[in-house]
Amino acid sequence: MTEVVRVPLGDPAGRERWTVTHEDRSYLVLDLGDRLVVTDALCPHKQNPLAAGLVRDGCLVCPGHWYAFDLATGACRNAAETPLPLHPVVAEGEMLYAEVKVEPELSWSERLRAYARGSS
Ligand code: FES
Repeated sequence: MTEVVRVPLGDPAGRERWTVTHEDRSYLVLDLGDRLVVTDALCPHKQNPLAAGLVRDGCLVCPGHWYAFDLATGACRNAAETPLPLHPVVAEGEMLYAEVKVEPELSWSERLRAYARGSS
């Protein structure tokens, strides 16, 4: 069952982009002026750091191989099978959080059963 984890984003004042680390995972936060976008810090293609990417035409362009990810939908304009996960931002009091869906770690026997069922 998928779990939702709240990741504190810190204070966005004066910052256009920053990374946060929570429970061994890093996230990139982009302040687009009218909204914050939160995604994983590493590119879903080959794991290059997205913090060095360019924001252009509503997309985040990865410096690794120049894939462009739509910042409204996460869709990749170069490879549809490689979407960028976008995590919703919620406010609680003065604090901002990203809500990140986390899949539970499966044991080997659970992985093998899932593989045998064809659901992995
Ligand atoms: S690592 Fe990002 S496009 Fe290849």
